[in-house]
Amino acid sequence: MVSTTSLLDFFLETRNYSETLCKPLKTEDYVVQPIVDVSPPKWHLGHTTWFFEDFILKKHKPGYQEYNKQYAFVFNSYYESMGARVVRTDRGNLSRPTVDEIYAYRKYVTAELRELLSDSDTISSELEKLVEIGIHHEKQHQELLLTDIKYILGNNPLLPAYAESYQENTADQENTQWISIEEGVYEIGHQGEGFCYDNELSRHKVYLHDFKISSSLVSNAEYLQFIEAGGYEDALLWHSEGWAWVNENQIKAPQYWHLEDGEWMNYTLAGYKKLNLETPVTHISYYEAFAYAQWRGLRLPTEFEWEVAQEHFNWGQRWEWTESAYLPYPGYEKEPGALGEYNGKFMVSQKTLRGGSTATSPNHTRATYRNFFHPHLRWQFTGIRLAE
Ligand code: AVJ
Ligand code: FE
Repeated sequence: MVSTTSLLDFFLETRNYSETLCKPLKTEDYVVQPIVDVSPPKWHLGHTTWFFEDFILKKHKPGYQEYNKQYAFVFNSYYESMGARVVRTDRGNLSRPTVDEIYAYRKYVTAELRELLSDSDTISSELEKLVEIGIHHEKQHQELLLTDIKYILGNNPLLPAYAESYQENTADQENTQWISIEEGVYEIGHQGEGFCYDNELSRHKVYLHDFKISSSLVSNAEYLQFIEAGGYEDALLWHSEGWAWVNENQIKAPQYWHLEDGEWMNYTLAGYKKLNLETPVTHISYYEAFAYAQWRGLRLPTEFEWEVAQEHFNWGQRWEWTESAYLPYPGYEKEPGALGEYNGKFMVSQKTLRGGSTATSPNHTRATYRNFFHPHLRWQFTGIRLAE
């Protein structure tokens, strides 16, 4: 249980951090949606605010006055039970509400929640739980904000830096050790008092065979060997779907890599730079992670192997593609009501990723956290850890 002041502080800190992340943006950067997966930054700022308004204030704050009746339509993402919404592909068409209007909306909703959370007598455990979800929801969007900003700036021909000082790599690459885990029955899933999403439950047993897992992530130098060995031209390394994806999209390297006069350049949040060979490869799809592992004669770990082994290595720089389909755990129960749409309805055709990334917000991920994306997507800070 979080105490009242810390819940309020956690809330205010989180609201503030989303705005801090947007400080380097120019107004025009807030508006565009270059691909369907990327949302305009201003939409993230509005959507996370709508979430608090619709899931919490309307129900739990006596006499609460909705800020603007039209905003639910603009900022509902995918909740069928919360009514009609702007279709995802049209988010970039929203010149209104303006960026200033969205900041004013944020200010209003933040102040209303501050009031609601200031009086500890009015905080039921139901309310506390909802506020926690709202905070973690905003943290998920903070990571999406950064990766969406990277996509917006990194696909602009001027290749502007987000922030010259931004560090996409926060730790030194370690020497690779192979960690051996013995076969046996292990427990998977969240345990204890702390926050988790419904998809991390219920805790259950799995049987694992002996396996080895690498202590380090695949580096850019290692991945370059795959490219130079013709990995992108060898159909036999790829899934059928992956091979079609490579050909249809003319994929020849990770996203943000550019071959310029025989030299590999890389767009990072700190700007357009020579590719750093030492750092962990990133912005690769599951298809690429799989093909790379095939080429090395190795494989990706399952999400269960990852969870069991994670205490033996450092993680958190890259979201790590696993070989596991994103499926419900035994005993999975989705949240009641609209929140039941949060995770459960996406448990089809996606892969689980484990760990966290350089863009993950503070106090957000954990060893049991399950991220998930469709196998072709690579605009997140994804990476590869090998197993055998
Ligand atoms: C867990 C990152 C796949 O992007 O839809 C945001 C996070 N959930 N709002 C997503 C999320 C609800 C989610 N991912
Ligand atoms: Fe959301």
